[in-house]
Amino acid sequence: MTIVLQAESITKTFDKEEILKGISLSIEENTFTAVLGPSGSGKSTMLHVLSGLMKPTSGVVKCEGKVVSQYREAQLAEWKRNEVGHVFQNYLLLENLTVEENIRVGINNGKASFSFDRLVRILELEQYLKKFPAQLSGGQQQRVAIARAVIKCPKLLFCDEATGALDEKNSKKVVELLHTIKRELGVTILFTTHNEQIAKTADRVLTIKDGMLYRDIRNEHPIAASEMVWG
Ligand SMILES: Nc1ncnc2c1ncn2[C@@H]1O[C@H](COP(=O)(O)OP(=O)(O)OP(=O)(O)O)[C@@H](O)[C@H]1O
Ligand SMILES: [Mg+2]
Repeated sequence: MTIVLQAESITKTFDKEEILKGISLSIEENTFTAVLGPSGSGKSTMLHVLSGLMKPTSGVVKCEGKVVSQYREAQLAEWKRNEVGHVFQNYLLLENLTVEENIRVGINNGKASFSFDRLVRILELEQYLKKFPAQLSGGQQQRVAIARAVIKCPKLLFCDEATGALDEKNSKKVVELLHTIKRELGVTILFTTHNEQIAKTADRVLTIKDGMLYRDIRNEHPIAASEMVWG
């Protein structure tokens, strides 16, 4: 297995308070990792540090062996543009652009894109391409955000509570489609959630508590998204 992302003793301090207290981990290529943990434990902060949105206070983040956390601004921007996709809880679509235009915003001109037609087929968005975000359900909007994030074929896709605003049916669909995206694009996914059922679909489950890696479990038999049972 190839290690694509590594954290070595990363810490993050805000206003003199240490929020991440020394996290080390290695993520294998083409895996889906769920990140669980109580509210305020540092999940989003860890994702931000791992994905280059923030620098760690100490420690390093490596992608394919390169120390990205020490990249200068331009180099960091280029790495993020080429290799990193983000999906957030609140979709962040551009309201005055159509679905098709929103997806195309993610195209990176310096790099080959994933086939637009194939991507919209995988994400079941064909019939919404001419619509505007306000005309779509939350689940449909999130699928557009996923398409926008992955059309450039990033190495890494970071999803922070990507189903946090969705109901059961739409959450299941988004999780199912993210697994398809992992398989079809070979992208490596990190997905923070409070949902233990989503964690059961993951290849690996990290639990963060009080800024530390509390548990690290590999799911020998991940369940299919369709098998998730909501409490
Ligand atoms: N930019 C910031 N400045 C100051 N404190 C911050 C900042 N970002 C996060 N924190 C603090 O860091 C702690 C961890 O926040 P974080 O958002 O990483 O938690 P989380 O595990 O993602 O929680 P949730 O499940 O509610 O999303 C919290 O106490 C939060 O207030
Ligand atoms: Mg969070």
